[in-house]
Amino acid sequence: MSRRSETLLEGETLTKYFGGLPALKDVTFTVAQGEILGLIGPNGAGKSTLLNLLSGVFRPSHGRVLFRGRDVTGLRPHQIAKRGVARVLQTPRSFPSMSVRDNIAIGALFAGRDRAAGRSGRDEPEYLLELTGLLDKRDLPLEGLTLQEKRLLELARALATGPELLLLDEAMSGLNPTEMERAMALIRRIRDELGVAIIWVEHVVKAIMGVAERVLVLNFGQLIATGPPAEVARDQAVIDAYLGRAE
Ligand SMILES: Nc1ncnc2c1ncn2[C@@H]1O[C@H](COP(=O)(O)OP(=O)(O)O)[C@@H](O)[C@H]1O
Ligand SMILES: [Mg+2]
Repeated sequence: MSRRSETLLEGETLTKYFGGLPALKDVTFTVAQGEILGLIGPNGAGKSTLLNLLSGVFRPSHGRVLFRGRDVTGLRPHQIAKRGVARVLQTPRSFPSMSVRDNIAIGALFAGRDRAAGRSGRDEPEYLLELTGLLDKRDLPLEGLTLQEKRLLELARALATGPELLLLDEAMSGLNPTEMERAMALIRRIRDELGVAIIWVEHVVKAIMGVAERVLVLNFGQLIATGPPAEVARDQAVIDAYLGRAE
């Protein structure tokens, strides 16, 4: 673990009000380089809001985001993406008539990241096609893909930008158990082979607990627990707020 204990991202007292109501309140946490961090909590707990603050979709009401030690609070989404934070949305938004392979290639182009920052070919389309299991679909237009394949393509597109941090907001929801097993293995591979840190928001708690090294639990906008999965699963506040009634 020590080889990747360096801090990649820090959220400091992150707070977001919508109208008079706090969707997120004083959330302080870190993500280490190459860490898989699970983010769980009931509907409306503030998970998406937190990821939106990290990716620049929303500006925090107060608090700061530091990425690689630099203050990125208030930067626009494309500026944050350029620094190495990629987000994968629940709803695919790729180019329908373009081939799978070209969709991945264009992901890298749009990011505008310095190619020299990429990792020895591992952000190349061929590698990403293999990683996401889309190699034999590479020449198909996007319309020929299933929903799950489209989601995998979104993930490949995000990775094509050569990120250091990947934000997954229920990007794998609605999978059957076999597909979820594959998604878990894929997330491990992304971290192991690319060294990318991941914040994974997902309703299937078992999947999060099986893959994440650390878990953050949000409830009504507040961080109620942080720790290794086994510890968080035994936390009474977490059981009362969420696990007791999950699944
Ligand atoms: N754009 C928005 N405008 C107003 N309220 C919002 C907006 N986005 C989220 N919220 C509110 O913030 C709270 C947290 O929502 P969200 O972050 O989406 O929760 P989660 O992703 O954990 O389900 C909810 O009460 C939600 O209604
Ligand atoms: Mg959400």
